[in-house]
Amino acid sequence: MKTKKIQNLDGFTGTILIPVFETNAKSIVPIEFHGTTVSSKVFYGKKDTHYLVEKYDCTHVFIGLGKEMDYKSLKTIFRRIAAKQKDIFTTSVALVVPQEFDSNQVEATLSGLVLGTYNLGHYKKSEEHPFLNADFELQFISKNDVEDAIAKGIKIAKAQLETFNLVDLPPNKVNPKYLANWASETGKQYGFDVTVFGKEKSHAVGLHSFLSVGKGSANEPQFIIMDYNPGNTKKHIGLVGKGITFDTGGLNIKTAGMVQMKCDMAGAAAVLGTMQLVADLQLPYRVTAIVPACENSVDAHSFMPSDVIQSYAGHSIEIIDTDAEGRLVLADGLSYLIKNYKPETVIDLATLTGSAVGTFGYECAALFTNNDTLAKNLQQSGDAIGERMWQLPLWDAYKPDIESEIADVKNYSGKPVAGAISAAKFLEFFTDEHKSWAHLDIAGVAFGDDEFAKTKHATAYGVHLITKFIENL
Ligand code: BES
Ligand code: ZN
Ligand code: ZN
Repeated sequence: MKTKKIQNLDGFTGTILIPVFETNAKSIVPIEFHGTTVSSKVFYGKKDTHYLVEKYDCTHVFIGLGKEMDYKSLKTIFRRIAAKQKDIFTTSVALVVPQEFDSNQVEATLSGLVLGTYNLGHYKKSEEHPFLNADFELQFISKNDVEDAIAKGIKIAKAQLETFNLVDLPPNKVNPKYLANWASETGKQYGFDVTVFGKEKSHAVGLHSFLSVGKGSANEPQFIIMDYNPGNTKKHIGLVGKGITFDTGGLNIKTAGMVQMKCDMAGAAAVLGTMQLVADLQLPYRVTAIVPACENSVDAHSFMPSDVIQSYAGHSIEIIDTDAEGRLVLADGLSYLIKNYKPETVIDLATLTGSAVGTFGYECAALFTNNDTLAKNLQQSGDAIGERMWQLPLWDAYKPDIESEIADVKNYSGKPVAGAISAAKFLEFFTDEHKSWAHLDIAGVAFGDDEFAKTKHATAYGVHLITKFIENL
């Protein structure tokens, strides 16, 4: 989306977006803008309401902001307008930026408008959103310098839209190769290096735990390494994203909820979107990210419950359940990242357990870390933009859950309790006692229901959160 600052609305024809702070339903002073008045009886700026007035060849859209707005609700207000009022955007569009808006609010507004272009109907015949037309230019009026916040809001939403696509497109399209190609192309476009290990190279390198999961699939596993290094960096961050492009459960085949398992690469998609955004914003930090991508399928070659497999770290793993596959690919991703790149902070994102969904539902991710500063910083970054998380313990009292009699460790306790915690304990085992590692179980928050579609779809949880966390370092 292109944008252009205009000084006033003289001679403007088209659609004017006018955000309005809530007054009072009983106010006798009408809302007034550009010679157009609206009685408080019909509109007074209440949150989640809007009112259209056609006058002087213009469609005035008064948009209710409520009295207090957080980042996420502001973004949703504008996403809703863009998504549900498509027809009013086929002309010129001008946005009136309230003088009271700070840069975060301007950013949220623009992000919302751009996210409103998203259409889940990837394979349906439908018209493109007017904002996506190459010639479309959003005009804006502001008394303040808002250009940077506007540009940033658009960049954030662009990265989130990419993440939406990656998660929502079907698994027969988004297979491991698709993710690898996406990374390579995006790396070229935005400026980060990408290396991909296929099956043979992964074997030679020793990524045996990762390879075990993909054994039953016709699609070759891809171990994707991305490195954004702008030079003279203050800090080095490492990211790992679970990239199971479809999770059938393997031989422990899923008996419930399999249809949603195209979302099992949402951690990967969050990491990929974050790489685009960090590079697009040219943040002065080195970020190295790993996406172990493969498909957990059923076949004569599939790995089996009771198999004992090897891992990159040299620890043997007893497979109790082939549906606990995410931790196996993350184990090698984490070990490889930590051993070869030694980042100061490591964060992994994964749709790891049903247990995290059972605990927090769809509102909040489960956070695991032994580093209090890291916990605080992640939580603050998330709270600022409405991507919530809550910490769960990594106490050693849970360690017996992953102790095996035949191998160094096992991939599942076999008990239907504390699933998110024992999964995190398993990951911790592969972090080589890293002093600044955090795991985010995003199974409940990556893919959900909202007003924008009838079926569950991607939320891009993590893209803005991790970028903001890095920015705040
Ligand atoms: N991909 C699933 C977790 C999941 C559940 C993601 C719901 C998104 C929504 C994961 O691989 C899995 O199957 N976990 C099992 C582990 C169990 C077999 C130890 C689970 O949580 O039930
Ligand atoms: Zn699984
Ligand atoms: Zn899974």
